[in-house]
Order: sequence, then C-alpha cells, then structure tokens
Amino acid sequence: MKILVIHGPNLNMLGTREPSVYGSITLESLNDTLIQKAKSLNVELDVFQSNSEGGLINKIQHAPQNYDALIVNPAAYTHTSIAIRDALASISIPKVEVHLSNIHAREEFRHRSVTAGVCQGQISGFGVKSYLMALYYLTELN
Ligand code: DQA
Repeated sequence: MKILVIHGPNLNMLGTREPSVYGSITLESLNDTLIQKAKSLNVELDVFQSNSEGGLINKIQHAPQNYDALIVNPAAYTHTSIAIRDALASISIPKVEVHLSNIHAREEFRHRSVTAGVCQGQISGFGVKSYLMALYYLTELN
C-alpha cells in the first residue's frame, strides 16, 4: 500500500511557528515519524508540502496514479478553498483530513472546514497523533 501525505501552507514553518498552538516539532521530524511508522506497518509513505493552492491541487489530482490513499492537512485552505475541495472530490481514493490543533476549539473562522465533507473523515487536535490515527485507519482498510 502507498499513502501520500499532503501538508498545506505554512506547515513548513512548524518548529518555530506558534509553538504554543502547534508544538515544537519540525515538519522534517513529523515526516520522519510518519515514514518510520508507515514502514512498521508495511506501508510506503511519501510526503509533500506546498504553500500554493495550485501546487496542492496538482498533487491531489495526480495522487490516484501513484497512491492508494491520501492524508491531507490543507492548513488555512481548509477554511477557504473550494478549489481544493473540488480537487479532493474529483479523486476516488480514500482521504482523511487531519489537523494538528483542534480547529473547533480555536477562532470561529477555523470551525468550518470546506474540505472535510469530501473526505472519509476529519481528525483534529491530536498533534502528530492526528496523522498517525489517519495512517492506522487507512492501513486497516486493506
Ligand atoms: C491547521 C489548522 C489551520 O486552521 C491552520 O490554518 C493551519 C494548521 C492544523 O494543523 O492545526 O495552518 O491545519
């Protein structure tokens, strides 16, 4: 099984970005954790990060050619991007939306996700474990 993890804008800044909200883990270290865990589950896992909406959409559109499932943290685009929602809706592989922070416990503008409704589900608020839970769910599907 091959899984792609997509990180949206500003997640490359993890480690120094608002540590009181996102913790001190860097994106590199988050990715390493996911890759190691995936290996132990016999899953091949690739990671991709982009700050641009178009870059994220291109990656989502092509994902079914190479991957069986998708874990996506659209970051701020979660709350605004109909284009990313449409890209996610256009592919039929299983998708899980994840967030490090609990978006429902934060500012009101973060409570709405325009993207979660076209994913199998959303996991929010568990830091790195949000991604790990998505990984466990997707590996259990096969
Ligand atoms: C985030 C939550 C979003 O509201 C925010 O814009 C992010 C990160 C999270 O993982 O908690 O960039 O997706």
